[in-house]
Formats: sequence, structure tokens, C-alpha cells
Amino acid sequence: MSTLESRIHTAVARVREHWRGTRLIDGLEPGPAGTAALLDVARIYRANRLEIGRMRLLSGRAVAGLFFDPSLRTHTSMEVATGRLGAHFVYLQGGQGTWGMEFEDGVVMNGTAAEHIREAAPVLSTYADVLAVRAFPKGPNRDETVIRGFAAHAGAPLMNLESALAHPCQGLADQLTLSDLGGGDFRGRKVCLTWAPHPKPLPQAVPLSVVRAAILGGADLHVACPEGFDLDSNEMERAASFCRDTGAKVTMTRDPNAAAEGAIAVYAKGWGGDDHATHSERVAKLGQWTVDDRRMEKANAFLHCLPVRRNVIVTDSVLDGPKSRVVPQAANREPVQAAVMLSWML
Ligand code: CP
Repeated sequence: MSTLESRIHTAVARVREHWRGTRLIDGLEPGPAGTAALLDVARIYRANRLEIGRMRLLSGRAVAGLFFDPSLRTHTSMEVATGRLGAHFVYLQGGQGTWGMEFEDGVVMNGTAAEHIREAAPVLSTYADVLAVRAFPKGPNRDETVIRGFAAHAGAPLMNLESALAHPCQGLADQLTLSDLGGGDFRGRKVCLTWAPHPKPLPQAVPLSVVRAAILGGADLHVACPEGFDLDSNEMERAASFCRDTGAKVTMTRDPNAAAEGAIAVYAKGWGGDDHATHSERVAKLGQWTVDDRRMEKANAFLHCLPVRRNVIVTDSVLDGPKSRVVPQAANREPVQAAVMLSWML
């Protein structure tokens, strides 16, 4: 075994010391120590990915990626990471090329859905060593029907590639990016998460995952949003239960300038609040929430999960300027997902 391979095995063993689970649904599952260990695997992968690509560490394994919604980064980074590890990635578009799927129990299936999750998830689990699922909510923004259906019926390890309330791989990548910005970690460092305008009342999956990532990493997190756009209180409470372990602090504010001042990163995201029906009217009445150069003056870096609406969420000058780290942030998706797959399949 080469020195690199042995380092990978040691780092993966450290993940398993802290996290024996094989479900990554909301991103809190590995806990602070498991997440830190996953990030160590990701760093080794990131620094050595060409050499790792020659090792075929997961040869003979298979990952089924089931996408009910579009993706550029998640699909590509999953497929590339799987390939670099020597495993096979099967890309499935839910309902387009697969049968329409039913998730409700006890229904008479005489509509468009031809296959029930009770068969689909166990069958896919016989072929694939990992199931990875993306499904945005179709109705209310808390609707986790699809990922919960897979969690209930899949025998294989399960990775959430974004649901209504969580985007855990984005959260892991964001934690890696914040660690890079903090010079190795970001414990005690100020991180700003700011609401930003968007024409649609988007789900809170990404901002909640940023909160979880910041708390798991021990940040001094400042969340700025207008009245009526507070993040889901149940999910915030669940994440905040880790503050005591990690030393993280969470401050909620209506003042985006105060939140941004002195932050190692200003992370912008649009999300829906407590009244989706009046979203557009309420957004139109708000003041300056688009992130611009002035807001970034006393902050170190700009982050966004992408895709981003230019000059709505953030100005061109910030996005094209020296403080924007959105591309390396997106690049961090591949190593963190590789780390999860190595931890489950090596
Ligand atoms: N950030 C993110 O998940 O990007 P995609 O929607 O393109 O996968």
C-alpha cells in the first residue's frame, strides 16, 4: 500500500471512529468530530485527486444518483468523484426515463405514477452501494416526502443531494471553504449569512445547511434577514443544540451591514419566508438587500452556492471582483462528496 493510500485509510478510519452512520440527510449526522474527520479526507482527496484517480479505490462499487430536479454542480461533481474513485455512477432522472414514482402509502395507483417507493428504493439498493437523491419540495417548502421515502425504504446508504430543508453536501463544501478562508478552521470567526432578494420564495435547504455547517465548525455566525423571512425555527433549534459542543454562537439581525462587517465570509442566499403568496410584493418593498461593494467593504470574501442571479442577489462587481470565492466553493463539492463515499465504501 502506498503512503497516500495508507493516509486515506487512516483518515477514513478516523471518520468511522466518530460516525458509523450511512445516512446523510440533514448534515448534522456526522456531528462536529465526524464532520471534521470527513473534511480531512476531503483535503487529502483535493490535494491528490489525479493520483487517487489512478488508484481506483472503489472499483466494483456503484452509486445511483436519482435527480428529480435539475443540477449542474451536484450532478457533475458526484459523477466525477465517483469516476475518480473507480466506481460506477448511474444517472437517473426521476419521472423522465424512470417510472413516475408514488410516495404516499395506501393510495390507489391509477394515476400517472407507475412505481411505488416501497419497491423502487429496495430494488435500487440491490444494484447500487449508495443511493444519492435530489428532490426539491413540490408544495410547501417543508415537504420532505421524497428523501424521507428513500430513507424509510432504501437498504443502501443514502445521500441527500438537496431536499426541502437540507443540502448536506453543499454544507460540507461550505465548511471546507470557510476553513480555507479561516486558514485551517473558522472556530470563533465571524461568518455572515444574509438573505438576498430572489423572484421566487425558494426553499431554505441551503441557508439551513450553511447554519448547520457554521455551527458544526464553531463559527460566530450572524444571520441577517428581513422581518417575515426568519429561518425555520425547528431546524435552527436542532442545529443550535451543537453550539455547546463547538463553541459556535448564533446572532440574528435585521441589519445586513452589521452582519457583514468584519466577517471572513458573507454568504448570500434568497429564501422564502412565512408567506409565499405575497413573496414578490414583500421583496419589492424591502430596502437594499442585494450584496454590493459597499456591503462587502469590511468583509473578506463573498460566497454563494450557485446558481446565482446576477444583480438581484449580488452585483456583478462583487461576483467578478477579488473577494468572490464562489468558484473554489463550488469546486469543494467534489472532494467532500468523495470523502463521504470513501467513508461508506472503502
Ligand atoms: N449548488 C448546487 O447544488 O448547484 P446545482 O443545483 O447546480 O447542483
